[in-house]
Amino acid sequence: MWSENRIPVQSAAENRPLKRHHTARYYAHRVKESLTTRVSKLICAIFLGLLFFVGIITFILWLSLRPHRPRIHIQDFSIPALAQGAGFENALIIYNATARNSNQNIGVYYDTMQVTVFYQDLIIGGSPVLFSFFQEPKNTTIIAGQLSGATLTVTSQRWQQFMADRARGEVVFRLEITATIRFKISTWDSKRHRMHANCPVGVGPDGLLLPSYRVKKCPVYFN
Ligand SMILES: *[C@@H]1O[C@H](CO)[C@@H](O)[C@H](O)[C@H]1NC(C)=O
Ligand SMILES: *[C@@H]1O[C@H](CO)[C@@H](O)[C@H](O)[C@H]1NC(C)=O
Repeated sequence: MWSENRIPVQSAAENRPLKRHHTARYYAHRVKESLTTRVSKLICAIFLGLLFFVGIITFILWLSLRPHRPRIHIQDFSIPALAQGAGFENALIIYNATARNSNQNIGVYYDTMQVTVFYQDLIIGGSPVLFSFFQEPKNTTIIAGQLSGATLTVTSQRWQQFMADRARGEVVFRLEITATIRFKISTWDSKRHRMHANCPVGVGPDGLLLPSYRVKKCPVYFN
């Protein structure tokens, strides 16, 4: 009876011995695999979480420390000799621009500065601005001066062009302010950046800046 009872079991085992063997190994393998997968998934999640966290912190720091470029506005620009029809020998350019540091916590060193006036992309005058300064956050500095005599290179031929433009109602120049600046973030100073501000300025027949150009923001770029 006992052996008779056993025979079908054995025969059943003999029927699918390979499958049973395979199944056991398969399950062991699956358990091991799912454990490894779970551990690696956890490590991956921790790693990604850390990465995300560091990214957020960096982004916030970057947002709060990112220096805004200086804001340059043209305030005034005039050539009185244009109104009087006087010759170019007496020409005088009066300029006034403002540079604003709009940063909350970042100071700006202006190490060197140069003002250049262009007419149709030809330099007609220029001079270094003879002061270097440190600009506190949220402060505005006036950059004003005059160009005359040796700092102006107006020929009589060019003056004729100015007069021709004046007869049409407007003489357009470009005031370029070039500066070497450094940003000061807490106690750290950035490297030097070369800044250019390009201000188009239109002068009317009276030699004064036309209202449409007044207090205009000048595009600023670095190189
Ligand atoms: C330049 O313009 C500013 C703002 O309009 C003014 O306060 C300042 O007095 C001007 N400076 C000169 C020298 O004209
Ligand atoms: C700008 O800075 C100058 C000197 O550094 C200071 O006298 C002036 O009060 C400041 N202006 C503002 C608006 O903070």
